[in-house]
Amino acid sequence: MASGCYTLCDSDNCKLNMAEEFHRIRRLPPYVFAEVNAAKARARAEGQDIIDLGMGNPDSATPPHIVAKLVETVQDPRTHRYSSSKGIPGLRRALAAYYQRRFDVALDPETEIIATLGSKEGLANLASAITSPGDTILVPNPSYPIHQFGFIIAGASVRSVPAKPGPDLLAALDRAVRHSVPKPTALIVNFPSNPTAWLADLDFYREIVAFARRHEIWVLSDLAYAEIYFGSLVPPSILQVPGAKEIAVEFTSMSKTYSMPGWRIGFAAGNPRLVAALARMKSYLDYGAFTPIQVAAVAALNGPQDCVADVRALYKDRRDVLIRGLAQAGWDIPNPEGSMFAWAPIPPRYAHLGSVAFAKLLLERAQVAVAPGLGFGEHGDTHVRIGLVENTHRLRQAIRNIRGFLAADSNVAAPLMAPGLATVGVAAS
Ligand SMILES: Cc1ncc(COP(=O)(O)O)c(C=O)c1O
Repeated sequence: MASGCYTLCDSDNCKLNMAEEFHRIRRLPPYVFAEVNAAKARARAEGQDIIDLGMGNPDSATPPHIVAKLVETVQDPRTHRYSSSKGIPGLRRALAAYYQRRFDVALDPETEIIATLGSKEGLANLASAITSPGDTILVPNPSYPIHQFGFIIAGASVRSVPAKPGPDLLAALDRAVRHSVPKPTALIVNFPSNPTAWLADLDFYREIVAFARRHEIWVLSDLAYAEIYFGSLVPPSILQVPGAKEIAVEFTSMSKTYSMPGWRIGFAAGNPRLVAALARMKSYLDYGAFTPIQVAAVAALNGPQDCVADVRALYKDRRDVLIRGLAQAGWDIPNPEGSMFAWAPIPPRYAHLGSVAFAKLLLERAQVAVAPGLGFGEHGDTHVRIGLVENTHRLRQAIRNIRGFLAADSNVAAPLMAPGLATVGVAAS
């Protein structure tokens, strides 16, 4: 607490001085997205029909057989008690079976798997479990905010590395171990990636594992989009690399694969020491997900998998509509090979605005909400992230609106300023 009069004090002039921001909160800047979200809320309050492609929130219903299992299980009062913090054994066994059939990776459900309250919770609590204040952590930039902020909350310093899998990232990792003091202790990888939608192949993971083993660096792989892919490259697991388990843990999630984002179920799997560290941490913090949710997750993992193929086909269909439609409207965006996002370079005419002002402009002129790339780190400021979270009918409407906006502006000679540009405050990186 800041200095000032805060104890028992009977002076009439006593003024409490408790306004200084808490240390941890100071390190958590307001979400950059809040600004665009506020503009979106204002527009909606005025009655505008905003097409919201800003959030990564799956819009599909959870498949009925999974919901039915939840409903059936919840009838049993024994499931109303505290559950098991590391996940019921059947759920951990179901994840082990998934890794075996999907990746040909054998995992011990007792020591190498833990269920989490969504992968985000697992990432954040593992970061706390393994971090000493002042540690250096290597995090891709741009990337999903918890990758960086999980460690910042834990008191670490973050060193940004390129997000794209390839030689530049490997060279940056090499520089990081030579020049960071203290030496980095952990690295985050995330493919298919949010926000960039990039995928990595197994050869790339081989390089990462070799690097991490050489320098004794933990690797946290975020595989939340394991099943959302559209091309010939099927996302591998880092745990497929021989020796990976010595240094790596991998997070997977029910949220996207089975359209269960609100249920809050995910996993960490791999290195037993990291899994044990997370288990210890969680044993102090939670009693596990509600048992009926865990039982339903077992039904999802062990049951018919055509719902996963359906989800994949749904996002692919949306991707095709969006990318083709925007190309026809004059906005060329790389075709994402996975994830549920398109990572869209700001059209050259608006590049000087940066991603927050451009997102506000799109909202105002096309009634389409997107996520400014800056919210994922300063190197994301050249892009906006477009979520495939509306049906194709709404996506076509969004494309028409954007086409109209781009066409209207192409008749104007001067570079455009976004509304309210002067007031844009940026605080995410
Ligand atoms: C890359 C990535 N990791 C993790 C998560 C969090 O997923 P969960 O719902 O499992 O916490 C998300 C959610 O959008 C994500 O994009």
